[in-house]
Amino acid sequence: MRWDRPLLVIRPLRSSDVSEILMVQRSAYSDGLIESPASFATKLGAWPQGAWGAFEDDGMSAYLFCHPWTSGEAAPLNSKEMDRSKLGTCLYIHDLAVRADRRGRGLGDRLVSEALSIAERNGFRTCALVAVQSSRAFWERHGFRAWRELEYGNGMPAHYMVRDAAPSMPTGREHGNERKPPGDGHGQSGRHR
Ligand SMILES: CC(C)(COP(=O)(O)OP(=O)(O)OC[C@H]1O[C@@H](n2cnc3c(N)ncnc32)[C@H](O)[C@@H]1OP(=O)(O)O)[C@@H](O)C(=O)NCCC(=O)NCCS
Repeated sequence: MRWDRPLLVIRPLRSSDVSEILMVQRSAYSDGLIESPASFATKLGAWPQGAWGAFEDDGMSAYLFCHPWTSGEAAPLNSKEMDRSKLGTCLYIHDLAVRADRRGRGLGDRLVSEALSIAERNGFRTCALVAVQSSRAFWERHGFRAWRELEYGNGMPAHYMVRDAAPSMPTGREHGNERKPPGDGHGQSGRHR
């Protein structure tokens, strides 16, 4: 049988992947959104179960970083420390990047699904992210809704977006007029390190 589709492996990231992460990042983001190797190492060390990569024959095509965070808050960009007082019941999708020449082939969707199943498996109440670079419509396809506008990176316009974590819960709920996002529980999910 002829197999003419490239092999795709989705696996947890490890510290030896950082150089490839940096290459994918460079192809995905404008300068104001670039994070340092140290900040990737911090995310990887603080919550490794939220770090995934999609690999094809010639290396990494995409990566995902997510971690627990306080509902309603954007995590800082390029931080060399994970502020443990901010860990909460929201799974925060910190970074999803697909290599520029690998877009439009479903990799983004695959890694969002991975994040949503991480949220479900670990009992998070909500998922949230900051949508940049005109990606809002992409996230809306996955049930996220814009909750507020903010500036991110070097002042670029962005949207804080949120959805319930469990697929059985309604995902089309509007949060536009709420002061608090859903699942703004206190305390920790108990799953993070
Ligand atoms: C946004 C991003 C992750 C999407 O990844 P991708 O692998 O190209 O997406 P997919 O191939 O899985 O696309 C799935 C669907 O979303 C759509 N889509 C992709 N990017 C979109 C966007 N920016 N806005 C609206 N829809 C989008 C696709 O057209 C496709 O729709 P279809 O199934 O109806 O054809 C990718 O473009 C990227 O890495 N961008 C740069 C980094 C970035 O901005 N990340 C978001 C940070 S918040």
